[in-house]
Amino acid sequence: MLIVSKSRPLFRQVFKRYDQLNRVVRENLRGIRVVKTYGQQDAETAKFKTASGNIFKVFSKAQRIVALNMPLMQLVINTTMLLLSWFGAKLIVGQQLEVGQFVSLFSYSTSILFSLNMLSMIFSQLSVSQASAERVVEVLNSDSAIVDKPTALTSVATGDIDFDDVSFRYPDTKTDQLQHIDLHIKSGQTIGIIGETGTSKSTLVELIPRLYDVTAGAVRVAGNDVRDYDLKTLRDNVSVVLQRPRCSPVPSAIISSGVTLLPRMKRSSTLPS
Ligand SMILES: Nc1ncnc2c1ncn2[C@@H]1O[C@H](COP(=O)(O)OP(=O)(O)OP(=O)(O)O)[C@@H](O)[C@H]1O
Ligand SMILES: [Mg+2]
Repeated sequence: MLIVSKSRPLFRQVFKRYDQLNRVVRENLRGIRVVKTYGQQDAETAKFKTASGNIFKVFSKAQRIVALNMPLMQLVINTTMLLLSWFGAKLIVGQQLEVGQFVSLFSYSTSILFSLNMLSMIFSQLSVSQASAERVVEVLNSDSAIVDKPTALTSVATGDIDFDDVSFRYPDTKTDQLQHIDLHIKSGQTIGIIGETGTSKSTLVELIPRLYDVTAGAVRVAGNDVRDYDLKTLRDNVSVVLQRPRCSPVPSAIISSGVTLLPRMKRSSTLPS
């Protein structure tokens, strides 16, 4: 119990640090072009090393505590056997105990001690599982900052899009990604937004289906603020196709499945269009 109570808080910390590591990796991968353009590979590698080193430190501390379990249990088992043999032998010599009774006592005690050993191993594993279960529940229970209004609009009349003095900053950053954007796009109009990498083009587009809420100003679709729409309605009506092939394995799957499908289709004399 002592081992479990000492190691559990450490395992909790480990899972929090895994989140930090994931954040560093995600940031690095998302901004890989910016990292390469500005030659920040070494800085990014250092960031990764710090994050993984933090996990290593806490995890090994926790494992050291858990590792105490085995020798402690072995000590208890062997000491008990030694004492049993010592007192058993004395009682047998003093003719207070029969050899058969002693053998039974010894084998029952051994079974109990080995079961206790297994139990303690399960308990030490429980401290890891409990910490990860708590983290999973915490993530699942966290509420999204973006919620529907009780009187949300359930239809989108036109494709007009307006950015009215929009400023936006990601929650964990210090500078605005977008500042005072005024942009008015009429339904049916096609427009292009050109900018260097990392100049927030995708961020601008992600504000339309309300993946994020603006920091100031308003984004309107068909004249209504996106925050007034029911989220499902809005996202059913606004489609975003990212320029990066985030689904890169899919085309190869389609090509390979197309290739393997073709002979079968020929056999049934229905060629794909
Ligand atoms: N979820 C996020 N949290 C914090 N910062 C982010 C997040 N997503 C993007 N950024 C940062 O916001 C800035 C703009 O990113 P964005 O992806 O919108 O640029 P972009 O113009 O689309 O770039 P690219 O031409 O490479 O697609 C970048 O500095 C990026 O690192
Ligand atoms: Mg982009």
